[in-house]
Amino acid sequence: MIRSVVRGVGTALPRRVMKNADFEGVVETSDEWIVQRTGIRERHIASDDETTASLGEAAARAALANAGMDVAEIDLIVLATSTPNNTFPATAVEIQNRLGMTHGFAFDLQAVCSGFVYAITTADLYIRGGLAKRALVIGSETFSRILDWTDRTTCVLFGDGAGAVILEAQTGEGTTADRGILATSLRSDGSHKEKLYVDGGPSTTGTVGHLRMEGREVFKHAVSMITDVVEDALRIGGISAGQLDWFVPHQANKRIIDASARKLGIDPAKVVVTVDRHGNTSAASVPLALAEAVGDGRIKAGDMVLLEAMGGGFTWGAVLLRW
Ligand code: UT7
Repeated sequence: MIRSVVRGVGTALPRRVMKNADFEGVVETSDEWIVQRTGIRERHIASDDETTASLGEAAARAALANAGMDVAEIDLIVLATSTPNNTFPATAVEIQNRLGMTHGFAFDLQAVCSGFVYAITTADLYIRGGLAKRALVIGSETFSRILDWTDRTTCVLFGDGAGAVILEAQTGEGTTADRGILATSLRSDGSHKEKLYVDGGPSTTGTVGHLRMEGREVFKHAVSMITDVVEDALRIGGISAGQLDWFVPHQANKRIIDASARKLGIDPAKVVVTVDRHGNTSAASVPLALAEAVGDGRIKAGDMVLLEAMGGGFTWGAVLLRW
């Protein structure tokens, strides 16, 4: 059977780093509050010349270099983002153009913080359906542009960045010994819309709007939603949590990451954490964390890896793959 195997990873982070202390004087907050409640110490913030497209392009180029591939070999780009450069065309198409690619097809996918998990699941289906052989799956965000910088309950939490992976169709045996994506599980429930949303849009206000979040309400649902979907992916894959080599969660809050790993019985030493340096980068957070753990040699060929995310919508999902 066809499996979607990861061939390369890449990232891009804006030049400017904003530390917690830099918020003091901007809003009524403190480094101590932010670290205690979230685990975040700093985040990257895009400058005027850095956009979702430019960061996505840079992450894609890094992933191509990591895979030793030329863009001519890619036939699909799926970009997960909630902060596109324009309302349309899709920022994926802009990245396609920036990469000098005029063949294949590219589109955006919007599932907020779960965007990358949705995008890699979608690309896997295109690959297994025979519509693509090699896909660039990118999560790229510039949430700094939709934050209300006077709202301390949200502006300290998010950061900008991009991560990319390249998936390639390879033949597997249909067992859990195969490399590649082994199981995925996606969920959404729009009845939670008001807990995390943007108060503007092309069809309502005609403006971009600002992010609004009832953080405590999101927190209340996060751990049970994450663990449900992780357990579902593990069940479909026929793997127990104890057999995982690496857990790569969405990086929103260290307390949510710790509580989810604890509930699932995953050893903290197997949990990849970047929220301290990136903040919540929405659809970019999982590929940024994944690429860091690959780059420093933690994730190696053959390792069993579990990705998960939860965010606005609500949307949530998990992906089980052998590296
Ligand atoms: O990626 C999408 C998914 N999003 C998430 O997963 C976010 C989920 N939520 C969270 O991570 C947490 O709920 C937050 C980090 C947003 C907030 O932490 P919390 O422990 O739930 O705090 P809280 O909202 O209950 O607020 C506690 C207090 C409040 O003051 P009072 O009402 O107790 O007087 C807030 O006004 O902390 C206050 N507060 C702040 N204080 C200093 C809120 N934001 C800040 C701030 N600095 N930046």
